[in-house]
Amino acid sequence: LVLVVDFGAQYAQLIARRVREANVYSEIVPSSMAVEEMLARKPKAIVLSGGPQSVYAEGAPRVESGLFEAGVPAFGICYGFQAMAQTLGGDVRRTGLREFGRTPVTVGAAGTLLAGIPVDLSVWMSHGDAVHAAPAGFDVLAASEGAPVAAFEDLDRKLAGVQWHPEVLHSQAGQAVLEHFLYDIAGCKGDWTTTNLVDEQVELIRKQVGDKQVLCALSGGVDSAVAAALVSKAIGDQLTCVYVDHGLQRAGESDQIEKDFVAVTGTRLEVVDAEDQFLGALAGVTEPEQKRKIVGREFIRTFEATARKLDAERHIEYLVQGTLYPDVVESGGGTGTANIKSHHNVGGLPDDLQFSLIEPLRTLFKDEVRELGIALGLPESLVYRHPFPGPGLSIRIIGEVTKDRLEILRAADLIARTELTAAGLDRDIWQFPVVLLADVRSVGVQGDGRTYGHPVVLRPVTSEDAMTADWARLPYEVLEKISTRITNEVDEINRVTLDITSKPPGTIEWE
Ligand code: XMP
Repeated sequence: LVLVVDFGAQYAQLIARRVREANVYSEIVPSSMAVEEMLARKPKAIVLSGGPQSVYAEGAPRVESGLFEAGVPAFGICYGFQAMAQTLGGDVRRTGLREFGRTPVTVGAAGTLLAGIPVDLSVWMSHGDAVHAAPAGFDVLAASEGAPVAAFEDLDRKLAGVQWHPEVLHSQAGQAVLEHFLYDIAGCKGDWTTTNLVDEQVELIRKQVGDKQVLCALSGGVDSAVAAALVSKAIGDQLTCVYVDHGLQRAGESDQIEKDFVAVTGTRLEVVDAEDQFLGALAGVTEPEQKRKIVGREFIRTFEATARKLDAERHIEYLVQGTLYPDVVESGGGTGTANIKSHHNVGGLPDDLQFSLIEPLRTLFKDEVRELGIALGLPESLVYRHPFPGPGLSIRIIGEVTKDRLEILRAADLIARTELTAAGLDRDIWQFPVVLLADVRSVGVQGDGRTYGHPVVLRPVTSEDAMTADWARLPYEVLEKISTRITNEVDEINRVTLDITSKPPGTIEWE
């Protein structure tokens, strides 16, 4: 275990991921955690992250010297580097010479940390203060214009640090620097993989659950499926999955759950056909937020009724959730100690139905969940599925949601997805919504006749996290094939358009 001490900003998660990419398991802890508590977790090494503050600012997080006296190898990055220098008696100054972004660094003496790395290095910096003199016992390894001491190491105490951000992709040789610290200074082995987690988690879940019954709602997405597959491996038929078919899914989605999930894991699945209920509740509604609220409310109602029914058959004590590490870290619970925590009133369920929560993915990042899914034998078609919004196609029909309109959209969506897959582009695209402008009609001509049909909008986007996105430059041939097939095969659609708006200002979905 390597602990990444979070000094704020968003760097800690990226560092934790890079450490794991070096096959060393890492977890994030807040910088407010007492040093004894950190040491009690027996970390093999500690990485101090960057942060937005100056070490001189009032209330800036500090590092207790006890951390460096415990004999645990430590690596400081940016703020963490300065904090290490300051705590150990080095000279950190406010230079006024700020370095932001791509910055040249000259390696003077490579030492162990920078061994084999180019002498003239281009790295990502973001600092206003700088280390002017390293603490006693440290060798200075590199310098930049604004940072006289830009990297140092003390091999006796197994301490090292860099002023730049090796975790950022723009930093040349960043991963190599991190790995030199982890392997060559801290002595980490690099034998951790997500697959190791399977056995560990299976053991934990078995211990926790005993012979009790467990429930899991499948959304059709990756996270709930991988979480359920893991629990299923641990406790077999003590797990029941529920899939609420709200009629707002894309073509073939319920079948896919049967084929890709149930057939592989052998899990007992309760499919609730709630199409009429959802469409009834959505009748006459055109306002996007109202659609979302209605779908959310009906989902909870349906799930609750199903949970009650199942609970009467076999008393259910646990609920599986596909919570991921970024959510855990962001809600302040980054210690990752509790793999299973008790919980009340999950997802709006009433108090008289109380479950404890099983969250087997709460220490994992999304790409690791995918690796785990593959290790559990789930097919790529499920594991690499594009994200799909909870309210489903209801927010991709601009106008009232009706059964007929859903069918039109499903047909067009299936063609777009099929052609994207056929072109081998699934992994290059983040998401590919197809939107039906149900209240718009335009004139066209087909065969010898005039048509008066609806347009659809193709919305393929690239993104890393859905927070920002760009419109995807799909090849013209692929777009042409999709357009021709949709207008030929879906009677009601006579026009296909492409959305070329990035996010911001557009959102990915139209509603
Ligand atoms: P936007 O449209 O805000 O979407 O750019 C960002 C990401 O979130 C998905 N999305 C939703 N997911 N419930 C969900 O579970 C929702 O109500 C919802 N709205 C948008 C969207 O598909 C994209 O991945």
